[in-house]
Amino acid sequence: MQNNVLVLDFGSQYTQLIARRVRELNIFCEIKPYNKLPEDLSSYKAVILSGSPFSVRATDAPHPDLSQIKGKKPLLGICYGAQYLAHFNGGEVSASNTREYGRAKLSFVKEDEPFFRNISADSQVWMSHADTIKSLPEQTSLLASTHDVENAAYKFEGEDTYAIQFHPEVYHTKDGKQLLANFLVNIAGLEQTWTPDAFVETTVADLKSKIGNDKVILGLSGGVDSSVAAVLLHKAIGKNLYCIFVNNGLLRKNEYHEVLKQYEGMGLNVKGVDASARFLNELAGESDPETKRKIIGRVFIEVFDDESHLVENAKWLAQGTIYPDVIESVSVTGGPSATIKSHHNVGGLPDFMKLKVVEPLKMLFKDEVRRVGTSMHLDKDLLGRHPFPGPGLAIRILGDITPEKVTILQEVDHIFIQGLREWDLYDKVWQAGAMLLPVDSVGVMGDERTYEKCVALRAVESTDGMTADWVNLPYEFLQKTSNDIINKVRGVNRVVYDISSKPPATIEWE
Ligand code: XMP
Repeated sequence: MQNNVLVLDFGSQYTQLIARRVRELNIFCEIKPYNKLPEDLSSYKAVILSGSPFSVRATDAPHPDLSQIKGKKPLLGICYGAQYLAHFNGGEVSASNTREYGRAKLSFVKEDEPFFRNISADSQVWMSHADTIKSLPEQTSLLASTHDVENAAYKFEGEDTYAIQFHPEVYHTKDGKQLLANFLVNIAGLEQTWTPDAFVETTVADLKSKIGNDKVILGLSGGVDSSVAAVLLHKAIGKNLYCIFVNNGLLRKNEYHEVLKQYEGMGLNVKGVDASARFLNELAGESDPETKRKIIGRVFIEVFDDESHLVENAKWLAQGTIYPDVIESVSVTGGPSATIKSHHNVGGLPDFMKLKVVEPLKMLFKDEVRRVGTSMHLDKDLLGRHPFPGPGLAIRILGDITPEKVTILQEVDHIFIQGLREWDLYDKVWQAGAMLLPVDSVGVMGDERTYEKCVALRAVESTDGMTADWVNLPYEFLQKTSNDIINKVRGVNRVVYDISSKPPATIEWE
């Protein structure tokens, strides 16, 4: 692809945000770690250098060779990127006297600069840095300052190299998107053609030519990613896509049948496999969370493998892997740099299946997967579905799992989730669910004392599940939900609401 932007990552917490902002402009971009600069840069029309927790003055800081980029392609340095360009071209970077963090107002030194087109004087920008550029390199001109930062934006004369101390990618920089558009579209000449429709069109064509008449197997989970991947593949290869939807007995109430019906209604070649009994048998008596996860993972692979052998001559395994699962991040602690989380089912199935892997969503962020799904007219409810863990209710039943406990939790969860929908709260929450706690607490019903189960409700807001905060649900909603649960679900006499943020707590209780 010739209309591509390279985002070179120096380990900033905002790197993914830069990529997302670029893509919101309908321009494709890729993130690469600074120490894995691609040898062939011909497909990149412009390069953006990210921020970093390092100081350019530190010897162990990222110091990549930019000789193939600077002066040869349009280049934008952000924060550390701007300091890096100053430091290695004869400018001076030193520690700021005051830590510069938060809002600031731009004032333009150079009027009529195309880089700041349609950006008003006094525009609010977001600063977050400890070092500052004390003096600019030769052959540069200052473009803008703020009250505390003299060299807030500058450019190299005679080339399309720009540098800014503030962060255009964060929402607090009011005109950040306009500034990125000025650089990418007006200066670098990128075309804004990377739309969901265009993605569908090119991906379907690519899949067609890559797969030909081969058969592909795909495990559907009921979630957004595998569903969108399936529809893309279905468009490309039709009935040669064999979808397998396994019921592990730990799904939400009615979910297996409803989702299976929905998939069939979408025209997918899908086979439902109800392996509930097998999963629950294997899990019997086990209370260690990690062992429960391992058992579920193993049994899933066994069931899936059995099923895939029934598809004769299958050549490919399709997966709904998305971009955040595969971006290599820069380690700032010296530890391993892969972001891949073992519990998130990345990496796929074991080698013995010997299938080639196809991952049509590998370059998309989650919100882009949803937009692609919308452009293919997938059901709104399916696209808006909350994330649900692979091991399902098994990690929401603390301790050992029995069919009775699964049924209790399914009922509780159902009341909670239906309630969220009815009160128009579902879409305001990133993820919600109920936990069955391993305590019997005392209650009173009529004149009798009872010892029954306690359930915890959890609803969080988040963007990626890495950090999360509990949602301030209306008291009236909690009151009604608690009443409904206790009145309708036999075996539960107490409901609590989890008000812990992540960190330090996690979203799931196990
Ligand atoms: P935690 O509990 O780690 O959850 O804060 C973060 C996100 O990951 C999901 N999660 C899992 N997903 N297999 C999965 O596929 C798992 O074992 C697993 N554990 C947690 C969780 O639901 C939340 O969205």
